[in-house]
Amino acid sequence: MQTMLLTVHDIRQIVAAMGIQTLMREMINALENAFRCYDPLTTQVPARAGFSYDQPFTGLLEWMPVLVHGQTVTVKMVGYHPHNPDQHELPTILSSIGTYDVRTGQLLALMDGTFLTALRTGAASGLAASYLAHPDSRVMGIVGAGAQAVTQLHAVAELFAIQKVCIYDVDKSATASFMNRTRFLGIPVQVMADDQLDELVRSADILCTATSTAIGSPPVFADTVTKPWLHINAIGSDFPGKTELPLTLVERAIVHPDFTEQALKEGESQRLVVDALGPPLYEVVQAPDKYAAERERLTIFDSTGWALEDAVAAELLLSHARRLQLGQTLHIQHTSTDPLNPYDFS
Ligand SMILES: NC(=O)c1ccc[n+]([C@@H]2O[C@H](COP(=O)([O-])OP(=O)(O)OC[C@H]3O[C@@H](n4cnc5c(N)ncnc54)[C@H](O)[C@@H]3O)[C@@H](O)[C@H]2O)c1
Repeated sequence: MQTMLLTVHDIRQIVAAMGIQTLMREMINALENAFRCYDPLTTQVPARAGFSYDQPFTGLLEWMPVLVHGQTVTVKMVGYHPHNPDQHELPTILSSIGTYDVRTGQLLALMDGTFLTALRTGAASGLAASYLAHPDSRVMGIVGAGAQAVTQLHAVAELFAIQKVCIYDVDKSATASFMNRTRFLGIPVQVMADDQLDELVRSADILCTATSTAIGSPPVFADTVTKPWLHINAIGSDFPGKTELPLTLVERAIVHPDFTEQALKEGESQRLVVDALGPPLYEVVQAPDKYAAERERLTIFDSTGWALEDAVAAELLLSHARRLQLGQTLHIQHTSTDPLNPYDFS
């Protein structure tokens, strides 16, 4: 019995073979298809659970499972350690994904989840914008210039003719390097100073908040006059007590969570009652005409990170690995010729 192992080396080869633009486009398409076909009777996605800690380090480790009945369970383990970039030269978000066969419980595949988390989180925001943002959106604003900001811009730029991105971060080294990290997109980047944050919000057609703001911190920008059709991808609010947007703005917007049950605990929606929310994004994807008028309105995609997105991302990568004959097959789980004897290693 073999397990397919996909390492960073394999992912690098897949990206090289496909091109990152094609891969992002495929990720968006795969998510759109999964959202359109999503049926809770056949695919079970419980809210994630995990451990959070303040001492001796600040961090969070969570597990995010998905059951596709009769087929697989996919589980992502994801860590959030906001001091990683400064203290350990590591990404804030580190992750790995395992896929199991529900017929036998066998571990089918194990792979990096850090790249996939960034790819799918960007793709989900791009997908949300493609259904909820104004079709003529040209200016994107981003608050928080870390790892996720790259894929947030990339996915939106795949779907809209973005002519300018305005970026703000409390850490000026993050904004300084953002231009290099997104140069491949060829979009002019305007770095905004502290006193230009209001201008960033006012000028945006599509806004993304992707900060590592601390629990209980004030909003990452003050409420202001926005374009009437502003669409916001709020991705950094993903833990109880951790929110990014001004409550007054959230209250006058139409809010579509990725996963309502989880968003009510962890997302911008944690400050709202369920009746104040719009339906989750997959329902918008399943009935686009019903929500088309929202492209002229203030909308928020409350993205906490839906485990279904990870299962879709893992399957996309595995399909490319199989096609390109990448990855290693390893005998990780103990099986022997005598299934009744755990001491038999024959
Ligand atoms: N919704 C999802 O599916 C999803 C997926 C991945 C990450 N996330 C969340 O997205 C956020 C960003 O993740 P990342 O990997 O880019 O982290 P990161 O550490 O690479 O970047 C975060 C950036 O936010 C900046 N920042 C912190 N407070 C700020 C503030 N008040 N104003 C402006 N900038 C501020 C930091 O200086 C840093 O550069 C995290 O909160 C993470 O939990 C959500």
